[in-house]
Amino acid sequence: MSRFSDGPGARIVGLGHYQPARVVTNDDLAADWGVETNDAWIQERVGIKARRFAAEGETTLDMSVAASGKALAAAGIEAADVDLVVVATLTPPTMLPNVASQVAARLGINAPGAFDVNTACSGFSYGLATAQHAITAGASKTALVIGAEKLTDVMDFQDRTTCILFADGAGAAVVTASEQNGIGPVYWGSDGPRGEVLNIDDDGYIRQEGQAVFRWATTALAPLAKQACERAGVDPSELVAFIPHQANVRIIDLIAKRLGATNAVIARDIVESGNTSSASIPLALSKLVERGELPSGGPALLFGFGGGLTYAGQVVTIP
Ligand code: UT7
Repeated sequence: MSRFSDGPGARIVGLGHYQPARVVTNDDLAADWGVETNDAWIQERVGIKARRFAAEGETTLDMSVAASGKALAAAGIEAADVDLVVVATLTPPTMLPNVASQVAARLGINAPGAFDVNTACSGFSYGLATAQHAITAGASKTALVIGAEKLTDVMDFQDRTTCILFADGAGAAVVTASEQNGIGPVYWGSDGPRGEVLNIDDDGYIRQEGQAVFRWATTALAPLAKQACERAGVDPSELVAFIPHQANVRIIDLIAKRLGATNAVIARDIVESGNTSSASIPLALSKLVERGELPSGGPALLFGFGGGLTYAGQVVTIP
């Protein structure tokens, strides 16, 4: 089988992230929001120690712009050279105009293709694949792919089974055409008949049947993540990093084990950032790269899963 990095294609050339200033610990949730919970339960069942909440007026758009500016700087690419902006989010500040065209306007990107993607927690992998497809089809040359959420807008602080999980933040990647491909074929899919277990209710708040989602994540997903490796011609043991959606440390560790990512750095950004849905993968990846914890040029598996139910993953080369 040929390897994903044989021949021309697209690759990630820069990453950036943004997290709001406000750090909220598990004890803060109990003390300041009156949530009937405790630090020990959250750490044991989910693995979260703290998360970030956006300021009142701070939006998904603001966080997208901040993360994108850093990704462009890391890539050494001018905003004017970007010709496609894709924003994965389920919390746009407005449905119309979309977030992507507003990010472009704020960054001074002139007349790019600009669209939002909503596949919840798998959104970044869907967005990245779509940008890759546009580049390899010759429709675009330089894309900005963003995952950004202000989940505090859709969190019910009376519901302790969800409000302890979610948080705000953004991550962005600059993707360009490249002589050597650095993005493997996406493996994506969905399970719509089971979508009810995770939804935004009529009251505007996110709800989930936690155990049903947990069972799905820990039984169905490892073989699907393996498919993404197979499509790239990479054995899981060759991965230098596994960056799954940050939903629960127990889920992350079980998928990593069943996948056989034996030599990979496993992203566990959820510990300090909570679950930021479509932002969680680019946020975790950008932080690991910034801290110098991943070898440049190595293969890493990104794998998103969640609302829909949807999933998507691809092997990428670390920039
Ligand atoms: O990003 C989208 C994808 N989402 C996910 O992947 C989430 C998947 N699900 C999960 O990660 C887990 O199911 C949760 C973290 C949401 C819940 O953990 P769990 O181990 O499945 O807990 P549980 O729902 O079985 O609840 C166990 C106990 C219950 O008490 P009893 O009935 O045993 O007395 C709950 O009432 O824990 C109680 N509980 C809490 N206690 C303290 C539920 N929430 C809390 C809380 N603090 N926040």
